[in-house]
Amino acid sequence: MKMNKASFSALIIAHCRAYHAVHDDQKIFDDFLAGRLLTEEERAYFDGTLYRSVKVLKYLSSGKVVPSILKLFLPRRAKQSFKAIAPEELNKVSDLKSGVDCYMHATGGPALTVSRSRYTEDSLVKAVGEGVKQYVILGAGLDTFVFRHPELMETLRVFEVDQPATQDFKRQRLTELGWEIPQHLYFVPADFTRQNIDKELKDSSYDPKALSFFNWLGVTYYLPRETVLDTLRTVAGIAPKGSTVIFDYLDTDVYDPAKVAPRGQWLLFSLVGAKGKCAFDPSMLSRDLAAIGLRLKENISPADIEKLYFRGHPSNYHAQEHAHFACAVVE
Ligand SMILES: C[S@@+](CC[C@H](N)C(=O)[O-])C[C@H]1O[C@@H](n2cnc3c(N)ncnc32)[C@H](O)[C@@H]1O
Repeated sequence: MKMNKASFSALIIAHCRAYHAVHDDQKIFDDFLAGRLLTEEERAYFDGTLYRSVKVLKYLSSGKVVPSILKLFLPRRAKQSFKAIAPEELNKVSDLKSGVDCYMHATGGPALTVSRSRYTEDSLVKAVGEGVKQYVILGAGLDTFVFRHPELMETLRVFEVDQPATQDFKRQRLTELGWEIPQHLYFVPADFTRQNIDKELKDSSYDPKALSFFNWLGVTYYLPRETVLDTLRTVAGIAPKGSTVIFDYLDTDVYDPAKVAPRGQWLLFSLVGAKGKCAFDPSMLSRDLAAIGLRLKENISPADIEKLYFRGHPSNYHAQEHAHFACAVVE
């Protein structure tokens, strides 16, 4: 299938959310609309890719001799996944569908995606109760908030900021589905690496005086650290005091070969690419944010995320090593 490069990461995340909504009985975050944003062709592409990965991993974990030709052509992703998944787990399951379940739980894509969305939307609902009037979703991708929460669209104005190509793709998909765009949803095309979102937001219906809540999920990983800090600085500059921004970030250990967990390696290679991009030292984040006008309110570590969402959950999901959630407030 010919994939639109700009929207690929948004599609992967929508697929992870849809996977959880369809396959897991106890929901951490129920994005019951995510699957509808994927076409038959895209679903088939993801299913095919997963089946192939699981077949390779099962072969590798079977203990059979790996032909040198396979070693040569084995995708790097498969090698990383192999390290991330305990081979004994995969060996316990016989059919391919259970193998895919095992893979999705062990590699952690859905776990990271649904836990950060749950954390953010729980915080948003609380913030709306405290007077927030604007919700800005930075790097929105195929976020379905406005369609899942029509009741909140009475109170909130929502701004989706994303690369122009991804946004065009999403709008086209919404048109194909026949979903009506809510009156108070505004699309703001912008590229964080090229533009300062200050102008783009101010040119839209964004009101710099209205208490706002920013969501920036699954994006800092892809950007240079300076771009991340510049964008956060812009948020601190265009939102009134008391406004909130939630983002997820990788810790610096993920780039240290001596400290990175196997699943951290998998995350880097498989979702982000091998090049080192933005990472923060969690113990220095408060200082980093204070320098740009933000007060760190919550800094949620993988161990905290495990306690909050996965301990006692009947699935085999676990918090993604090295991925943290931060909630900061405009000073
Ligand atoms: C992994 S997806 C996350 C989507 C969504 N926030 C979520 O958590 O479901 C990353 C999103 O960030 C957007 N993005 C990546 N780099 C960007 C950039 N330089 N400027 C604007 N958007 C960007 C992509 O287009 C994509 O929609």
